[in-house]
Amino acid sequence: MHKQVTSSLLRRSFLLSRGSTNGRTPSSLRGAGASLLTTTTIIPLQQPQPQHQPYTHQHVQTRHYSSHSPMGLPPTTPRKKVTLSKLQSMYKKGEKITMITAHDFPSAHVAEHAGMDMVLVGDSLAMVALGMEDTSEVLVEEMLLHCRSVARATTRAFTVGDMPMGSYEISPQQALSTAIRFIKEGRMSAVKLEGGAEMAPTIRAITTAGIPVLAHIGLTPQRQNALGGFRVQGKSKESAKRLLRDALAVQEAGAFAMVVEAVPQEVASFITGLLKVPTIGIGAGNGTSGQVLVQADMTGNFPPGRFLPKFVKKYGDVWGEALKAIESYRDEVKGGSYPAEEHTYPMPKEEVEAFVGDVRRLMSANASETEGEKDA
Ligand code: KIV
Repeated sequence: MHKQVTSSLLRRSFLLSRGSTNGRTPSSLRGAGASLLTTTTIIPLQQPQPQHQPYTHQHVQTRHYSSHSPMGLPPTTPRKKVTLSKLQSMYKKGEKITMITAHDFPSAHVAEHAGMDMVLVGDSLAMVALGMEDTSEVLVEEMLLHCRSVARATTRAFTVGDMPMGSYEISPQQALSTAIRFIKEGRMSAVKLEGGAEMAPTIRAITTAGIPVLAHIGLTPQRQNALGGFRVQGKSKESAKRLLRDALAVQEAGAFAMVVEAVPQEVASFITGLLKVPTIGIGAGNGTSGQVLVQADMTGNFPPGRFLPKFVKKYGDVWGEALKAIESYRDEVKGGSYPAEEHTYPMPKEEVEAFVGDVRRLMSANASETEGEKDA
């Protein structure tokens, strides 16, 4: 008796060819159907040889046939790892420190290739990568997941993980235990927290435990509700003095550097000149020791019409390029021009013919058998 070739039979035979039944012919497939399997699918598939140089990486296996090939190759010109003392020496020499955000492996990988000194897993993640309304929504666990993926791509840059709102304000002990998670689980080199003089005991507790802290003063987006929105800070004499007090307090508490956000250039430059640690400006003009920008903003990875703060310079058009590419793909799939011959895996002609011939023969045998059964 011949078994009818059904889609489930073909599926089982496919599975069998991939070894998922441990090479044994299932009892349900024994009989004439199994002869098809023996002649066509139990024979190991001839794997085509790769046409290209294998993509290798010292830590990851090569996969010639998978759509999920590893992203990570370190930059070809090896550079020395950026450490705290390297950052201090850059600062002392007056060399500007470059920092950018990265929220996942690819964005960290490209930052690393571009030679960024510091990579920040900012809580801007909430808005630009997770689509949240503001940064207060993002959880420690979510930050840690993204920190780990960034850490895998950064062999040279000094990495900083941003402690999210609610994970450090309650007490220095709470802050320290969160900071430890960012180092142990997030694989970061340092943590960042927002706040000035009032956070000094917290910064002290974390740095005393041996964890470097990047402070963040001026506009502190996690406190947007208290600040009355995203407002430029230090615009009046009193407010500028408060900012200076904050800068001195976080420095005194052991911060190795501080982000200074949305502050008039003159104030940021003047404060920078009074400190012994670097300032990393964002919307604070050109007189700080370094600069930071959110990667999605500066690469233009957002749709037209999105609001951009005044200080952001758009250096690229990643959105435009991605949109063009995806639209072309859509058109080519709809029009049938993709995939072309060069995107397919070759199979020896005789194998194709033998396969098609066997299946056709079995199908016609099945058809005659079914006719016979009907007539009987
Ligand atoms: O979350 C972030 O990306 C930041 C930078 C803007 C400094 O805090």
